[in-house]
Amino acid sequence: MKFGYFDKENKEYVITRPDTPLPWINYLGAEDYCALFSNTAGGYSFYKDPKERRLLRYRYNNVPMDRGGRYLYLKDNKSGDYWSASWQPVLKNLDEYKYECRHGLGYSTITSEYSGIKTKTTYFVPIGENLEIWKMEVKATGDKPRDLSLFSFVEFCLWDALNDMTDYQYNLNIGETEVKDNIIYHISRYRVQQNVVAYFSCANAAAKGFDTQRSDFMGTYGDWSAPRAVLEGKMNGSIAGGWSPVGSQMFNFKLKPGETKTFIFVLGFTEDIKEPPAKVSKYEDPKVVDQALKKLADYWEEHLNKFSVQSEDPELDLIVNTWNQYQCLTTFNWSRSASYYESGIGRGMGFRDSNQDTLGFVHLIPKKVKQRIVDLASNQFEDGSAYHQYSPLTKKGNGSGYGDDHLWLTVSVPSYVKETGDIRFLETEVPFVGGEKGTIYEHMARAINFSITHLGPHGLPKIYFADWNDCLNLTYDKEKAESVMIAQMVVYGARELAKMAELLTKKEDIKKFNDIADEMTKKINKVAWDGSWYMRAFDEDEEPLGSHKNKEGQIYLETQAWGVMSGTAEKDKALKCMDSVRKHLWTEYGIILMTPPYSKFIPKYGSICVYPPGLKENGAIFCHPNPWAMIAECIIGRGDIAYEYYKAVQPAAHNEIADLYKTEPYVYCQMIAGKAHKNFGEGKNSWLTGSACWNFVAASQWILGIRPDYKGLMIDPCIPKNWKGFQVKRVFRGSTYYITVRNPEGVSKGVKTVTLDNRSLASNIIPPDLPGRQAGQTSGKEHHVEVVMG
Ligand code: GLC
Repeated sequence: MKFGYFDKENKEYVITRPDTPLPWINYLGAEDYCALFSNTAGGYSFYKDPKERRLLRYRYNNVPMDRGGRYLYLKDNKSGDYWSASWQPVLKNLDEYKYECRHGLGYSTITSEYSGIKTKTTYFVPIGENLEIWKMEVKATGDKPRDLSLFSFVEFCLWDALNDMTDYQYNLNIGETEVKDNIIYHISRYRVQQNVVAYFSCANAAAKGFDTQRSDFMGTYGDWSAPRAVLEGKMNGSIAGGWSPVGSQMFNFKLKPGETKTFIFVLGFTEDIKEPPAKVSKYEDPKVVDQALKKLADYWEEHLNKFSVQSEDPELDLIVNTWNQYQCLTTFNWSRSASYYESGIGRGMGFRDSNQDTLGFVHLIPKKVKQRIVDLASNQFEDGSAYHQYSPLTKKGNGSGYGDDHLWLTVSVPSYVKETGDIRFLETEVPFVGGEKGTIYEHMARAINFSITHLGPHGLPKIYFADWNDCLNLTYDKEKAESVMIAQMVVYGARELAKMAELLTKKEDIKKFNDIADEMTKKINKVAWDGSWYMRAFDEDEEPLGSHKNKEGQIYLETQAWGVMSGTAEKDKALKCMDSVRKHLWTEYGIILMTPPYSKFIPKYGSICVYPPGLKENGAIFCHPNPWAMIAECIIGRGDIAYEYYKAVQPAAHNEIADLYKTEPYVYCQMIAGKAHKNFGEGKNSWLTGSACWNFVAASQWILGIRPDYKGLMIDPCIPKNWKGFQVKRVFRGSTYYITVRNPEGVSKGVKTVTLDNRSLASNIIPPDLPGRQAGQTSGKEHHVEVVMG
């Protein structure tokens, strides 16, 4: 069963019924202000940091999941009937209530029609502002004049979202509001911390009344679906002094048949209490609101026009051109901090996650990636290891002790340099946590050094608390457990450092890093090859995980894919281990992370066995490493398999089975329940996931094969044999390339000829117009590239 469809032209996903299997959300706000927005107007807002600067309250473990929200109640003053403009929270019968929600790029529009009243409400965050606008049009569609009331409602959070839900003796006494000139101010803590003010107002109509104390609006025993103020049709004019501050205004108005009235609401954050009146009045004119919407559309148009494809698969085009890149930019903004599955009070910017995320948007915002890498590198210790995460507000790190975090720098930095050609970045000095400074190159070198100097009994790097697989917690008292994946990452990173050493003409380092890679490769193949695949790790008792010798957890995906990606696996091992993936891990909904899942808790393996078989790391289809298998298949040249893997986890492929898949069909989710689970095929944890960046990399750089390289733009497709070709527009180092690939011989891989503006090239790497440019410089040139495969 499906709940909506893609409107390709308008770049919108259209939800046609409100009762989606889970809240299907959108992120409004591309800069400092963020509003999570569900398809029934649920969600919360924050400024920069969802933990410390939370504007709207969210109740954890809530039922339904997405309450509270940005609610607008309508009441027919004659009949006394009332409803919501976003279906929730009043929940009118869907036989009588018409609904549609359009999630677009940075905005969402909900339309409703009930008892002869049509509403259309667009919610968005204007570019350059720390506020959200709700523009609501109310129209009488019947032939009778109508007498109506409208009630707006938000519930404020007391800023610190963790404290807000735990420390009641304190926070039930700090809530404060003020109402002045039609604007509601939320000023809790303002007396001690004068940089936190929220405000909420209708910009183009004077309220008939207001309430700012929740119990006055709701009634002590009222609730969201039947608030006292709406039932009685009157406000109490309450001002919060303790308890629970809210913002609500009431408007009475009449509509003639066919008449439309527009209400514009502004909800914002400021550090200057004098600012709100000007901000609110700026948006009293609907034309100004529409201009701000246009500016938002331009912003997204400009951001998403660097890569687009036209292939034989419209679904691939739709996801790659719009939604996947949109999701990647959302992960740039919020890493794993705030969604309906990430609480916004736990993790900040993850070191491992944020480094990987950069791969998905480096072609869109290279300057910001440069800054992000600097922030990340500043959270690396002098010994080469790193903090596990940092706070987006203070940029200060916390948590450490993972075996892999630091090595992800050796993935993000090369990708940035290949994209931009900004070699000088490698010589930029950035402090380590202790204060000592080192170049970015040095930061990477120390990352490698840490892992090759902290080895276990088999000579492989120690895993410590965990590696990429967060739930493989193999280290207890002996600190002996080792990770094969980290060893493969060392090979990958050392090879990249050797190439960078070449660019920087550091001759000794070329050899040094290639030697490190060679030696580690030898070790891996000696101690971690299991016969048909790579083992995953060694535990504290020096026993393998991911071996045929194990009863459960015999084979893991990560080390097969990374074996190929890192070049650790020579040809026959590469084919063998990827064949094993296909044989043991592939399912119709994607590749499971490992098999057989652990059926009971094994203390020395840690939290991986806490999950029921088939969920999360215990044998689910993790959408993040699935693209690693696609990349590996492209490396070994099996385009049909790579494409089949791509299609299995691609969100749009689940549109028709949305009742099973449950999460949004327009964005990737973290994982899909594996075949060992009764809900096999059910998606979980959507939006903020490394699945976004890696799937984009796999599709754009490996299947389509348009891949930045130190020397230029490489064209190396690996496609299904029956594709006749495809076209790509790619902005690269400031020039725009229109690339046409033809596949007359029906191959998967192999480039026979490349012509650049009718000039034939000797290789499949297009030399850049501005080889040594810094991020942001453009040549402004356009080129036509013709590629013939064969
Ligand atoms: C989650 C974490 C990520 C980890 C992955 C596998 O997605 O955000 O850091 O690598 O799980 O455990």
